[in-house]
Amino acid sequence: MIKIITQVTQKGGNGKTSITLNISYELGRRGFKILLIDDDPQASLSKNIIGEEALAGVGGIEDLYLNPDLDPHEFILDTKMENVSIIPSHSSLAGVPARLIYDGDGFFTLKNIVKKISGFDYILIDTPGNLEFLTLSTFIASHHLIIPVYPALYSLLAINDLTTSIEKMKRNYNADVNILGVVLTMMDRRANLYKEIEDEVKSFFGDKVFAISTSRTVKSEEATLQSIGVSGLYPECKLAKEYQALCDEIIERITQNNEVITQKDTDSGKITQNKEV
Ligand SMILES: Nc1ncnc2c1ncn2[C@@H]1O[C@H](COP(=O)(O)OP(=O)(O)OP(=O)(O)O)[C@@H](O)[C@H]1O
Ligand SMILES: [Mg+2]
Repeated sequence: MIKIITQVTQKGGNGKTSITLNISYELGRRGFKILLIDDDPQASLSKNIIGEEALAGVGGIEDLYLNPDLDPHEFILDTKMENVSIIPSHSSLAGVPARLIYDGDGFFTLKNIVKKISGFDYILIDTPGNLEFLTLSTFIASHHLIIPVYPALYSLLAINDLTTSIEKMKRNYNADVNILGVVLTMMDRRANLYKEIEDEVKSFFGDKVFAISTSRTVKSEEATLQSIGVSGLYPECKLAKEYQALCDEIIERITQNNEVITQKDTDSGKITQNKEV
């Protein structure tokens, strides 16, 4: 079964797109077949990976949202990264929620799209930095959520809204999603404030916080500009090692989670609203 992992935050600029790109790169290097889905109308992931010019001539996830009969495989593009493909997005994705919120399959549209996809080990979804339709749809479509937290006070204030929203979607739509982990991003360990925020995040999320956090370095953007993970450009740098270790932790947690799922009774109750096809 394809495992679907989504990066979510309530605010922008926490490192979602960078983690999505780098973890796809690390998983691809290990031989896993990866599909990226850009579920953000900003289309940063798409622009970073396939470039604005190439993007102008292709369809994207917005077409799939609005036309349930289309085959998602026809929208998959190759990337420069080994074993990594992408369904891109365009700014017109911003118009999708208004058309689907009371219509079609609503919050289940994305799940119904990903259910048709085959031939991959993992799907990684990048989301906008808000808790609106496109992000909420990923709570239903995904198995695992990763929450990147940039250590700033505003990030902490947003965490409560995010976890409440995840819980509500789980309850109301019987979404079988879990928070795989929380990763502290762009850390500068010399700053005292960062340590304080790290402690706060750990006291809120406990062992959900990944052992690995990522450091701040200009090498991150340099690699992104080349449409590859940091490991591809600077294999020995600290951030490359951190992404490699984070990838190990992600695989380990997913494996553990699968073992728990196969043991537990999966009949988890009545579905209140379901437009799954
Ligand atoms: N480890 C890092 N070191 C330095 N800069 C980084 C690092 N990771 C990400 N950045 C930069 O920080 C900015 C925000 O990161 P990113 O775009 O990944 O966040 P995001 O959560 O996807 O933002 P948005 O919500 O706007 O989509 C970008 O300019 C990115 O290149
Ligand atoms: Mg982003």
